Amino acid sequence: MKDHRVLSGMRPTGQLHLGHYHGVLKNWARLQNEYDSYYFVADWHAFTTHYSDRIDLEKNVSDMVVDWLATGLNPNTATLFVQSKVPEHAELHLLLSMTTPLSWLERVPSFKDQQEKLKSKDLSTYGFLGYPLLQSADILIYKAGLVPVGEDQVAHVEFTREVARRFNYIYGRESDFEEKAELAIGKMGKKQAKLYRDLRKAYQETGDDESLVKAKALLGEQQNITLGDRERLLGFIEGLGKIILTEPEALLTKASKMPGLDGQKMSKSYNNTISLREKPEIVKQKVNKMPTDPARIKLTDAGDPNKCPVWQMHQIYSPDETLGWVKEGCTKAKIGCIECKKPIVDSINSELDPIQQEMTKYEANPNLIQEIIFEGSERARIVAKTSMEEVRDAMGITY
Ligand code: TRP
Ligand code: SF4
Repeated sequence: MKDHRVLSGMRPTGQLHLGHYHGVLKNWARLQNEYDSYYFVADWHAFTTHYSDRIDLEKNVSDMVVDWLATGLNPNTATLFVQSKVPEHAELHLLLSMTTPLSWLERVPSFKDQQEKLKSKDLSTYGFLGYPLLQSADILIYKAGLVPVGEDQVAHVEFTREVARRFNYIYGRESDFEEKAELAIGKMGKKQAKLYRDLRKAYQETGDDESLVKAKALLGEQQNITLGDRERLLGFIEGLGKIILTEPEALLTKASKMPGLDGQKMSKSYNNTISLREKPEIVKQKVNKMPTDPARIKLTDAGDPNKCPVWQMHQIYSPDETLGWVKEGCTKAKIGCIECKKPIVDSINSELDPIQQEMTKYEANPNLIQEIIFEGSERARIVAKTSMEEVRDAMGITY
């Protein structure tokens, strides 16, 4: 499967935590052995929401790469790079912006959602509106077939498919274009399909523009076909060509089961995280402060693990034996909550210990990190440059 390319990115806006580790990084590390994998620090993307925050990007970028390496990404297996070191992403973003309808960007769900959520920030900027398109450029420039992302990003991959399709429609054609077009015709219903075929035939035989206009109107009225199919069928009237940008697919990462300290999803915005760099003493303090079943006020009060976020953590970290001990101890008031939390503190600390040892090794050698970023970015750039030549070629920017 090494011929399939995987690509994903992460915004360097803060410290990575156990949620990233269990939800994303372990998955990336597994994929690097199965696919030709590209992982990058999306530093330009950080500005789309944090343009006025003056975050220490240099530190965040380097810490992020250290965290990736410490949790098992291998710079000799995967290509690890930084977005701003491959400026071709910006060129593709610009060129794609010429053909991307504003309405497509406005209806990307994250556009309105994030504006609502991050009310304290003014996100009515050009960069924020265009950020899914920058993401499309990130993906399309590597012709990545698979994009491992969480639920919240699937719409962006779908959007990228439409962007690619439109580009191919305008500047080239896909290779299995004809089959897909036939399938789409099949979805239109008999009468309409016949009308479409007749108009297509008329246009191809006589080149008469009126048939083309009529066919466009007909396609505009179709309820059963997707936007992509509509573009395909428009292209099908005019002829076949070659594929330039590959349509990617989202590789949906199952939602991380890692709960935060309060039982909600672990996330920086809920302030309920344990960082990968957390010291053992702080891990202990944080876990000991976790809320428990409110019914257990005194040691002698029986509790219900299902009402306790600590129980959710046990599900991640504890073997059956410990789970049994917790259930029995909690419901029969045989153990105290601090006692119950102890195995979790120990498990988290023994999970973090080897990771933090690796971090220390890399941090003692900042030049090595610089080198890894430089080499990865150069490798990525070779691929990006080739794609840009094809894109410029297709668009006629060859002088
Ligand atoms: N937008 C992604 C996020 O917020 C990060 C990202 C940028 C990305 N470019 C990408 C993810 C390309 C996958 C592919 O998490
Ligand atoms: Fe939660 Fe454990 Fe206390 Fe029960 S004993 S309430 S599971 S911390």
